[in-house]
Amino acid sequence: MTSTIPAHDAIEVILAKRDKGELSDSQIDWVIRNYTEGVVADEQMSALAMAILLNGMNRREIARWTKAMIETGERMSFESLSRRTADKHSTGGVGDKITLPLAPLVAACGVAVPQLSGRGLGHTGGTLDKLESIPGWRAALSNDEMMRQLESVGAVICAAGAGLAPADKKLYALRDVTGTVEAIPLIASSIMSKKIAEGTGSLVLDVKVGTGAFMKSLDDARELARTMVDLGTDAGVHTVALLTDMSTPLGLTAGNALEVRESVEVLAGGGPPDVVELTLALAREMLLGAGVDDVDPADVLADGRAMDVWNAMIRAQDGDPGAPLPVAAETHVVAAPADGVLTRLDAMDVGLAAWRLGAGRTRQGETLALGAGIEWHARPGDTVTAGAPLFTLHFDDADRLPRALESLEGGYDIASSGTAFSPSPLLIDRIA
Ligand code: URA
Repeated sequence: MTSTIPAHDAIEVILAKRDKGELSDSQIDWVIRNYTEGVVADEQMSALAMAILLNGMNRREIARWTKAMIETGERMSFESLSRRTADKHSTGGVGDKITLPLAPLVAACGVAVPQLSGRGLGHTGGTLDKLESIPGWRAALSNDEMMRQLESVGAVICAAGAGLAPADKKLYALRDVTGTVEAIPLIASSIMSKKIAEGTGSLVLDVKVGTGAFMKSLDDARELARTMVDLGTDAGVHTVALLTDMSTPLGLTAGNALEVRESVEVLAGGGPPDVVELTLALAREMLLGAGVDDVDPADVLADGRAMDVWNAMIRAQDGDPGAPLPVAAETHVVAAPADGVLTRLDAMDVGLAAWRLGAGRTRQGETLALGAGIEWHARPGDTVTAGAPLFTLHFDDADRLPRALESLEGGYDIASSGTAFSPSPLLIDRIA
């Protein structure tokens, strides 16, 4: 006869971590399974998450926690595909539209890209929200549709189904409202449980550091990157992380349709140099991870092959890549107050401005103003002229303008003309 007495209880697990102990494999398996099934209450899991935030977890505990979360849901496999797969995950930043040009570029180089993405909450936009500004485009695909598109087009960007690591879905929503998002073991296991369950052959992580990122300090970003690379490697996924700057927003736009427009410029061989630099750096890592070293993605971007895959990828999901994108009802220009050199453009302040204009959500499920957002006409290191446009704000609802302007007020510095200034590098480090 099997015993009906539970192996553990929630209080025992909370106390162990509160008192700086190590959780056993069995305690971790028990608490994750029982939280997902509703046996462990939200308030108990909140207490445990806070104890983990304060006291940490070691490599074994994090690996077991990740494995336990994966086991609460389905695992996908791309092994039946004729091409190898590579995926990328960004920890999120302002103006980060890189997935849009990157997925078709890597596919055009011969590696399949299954990019399961999410919607945005807060000042960093979600990839699906950006693509939904393309008329007709559909984020929800069945697993069969996804596999067929990966085989025929090579790239898919679609909504992650609810079946991948459901424990994470529940825990992430709880962390969001209990001040426990910033725990490195919990961020790492949350991201990697979904990526490992998705079944990609190789993974490149873009770990952002700076004012507009989760990780404000380089030491924390390095620790997060190291933890995720170790988790991926231990699970048999070839994993590399790039640490990249997010003190300045990426490119020249933040906002859904504005970012699609900028991505298409990159695919057409133009676009802002920093977006091109990061797209190519990540593409090279993805190709290397998939064992492809005889194609230069710069050539594939320049000769239009990446654009061909973009058009096919959008059409395969019922979008019209040639249709006009949504445009906001009104614009407002902020002029540079003085001549000089722009020495700082703060990613958080710009992201907040775009969000306040209607480009981001304040709660789950809120409808976005797809044409809303912000363009900046200079990047750190550029010369600016008094009275010339520094920002253009795009919005549908004029009531949103004052608070967006407020967030931009302290968001930049202009030094006197002739000041020597070199912007900080975009690519900070590589962790393998
Ligand atoms: N993204 C995730 O998926 N999980 C986190 O915990 C943080 C960012």
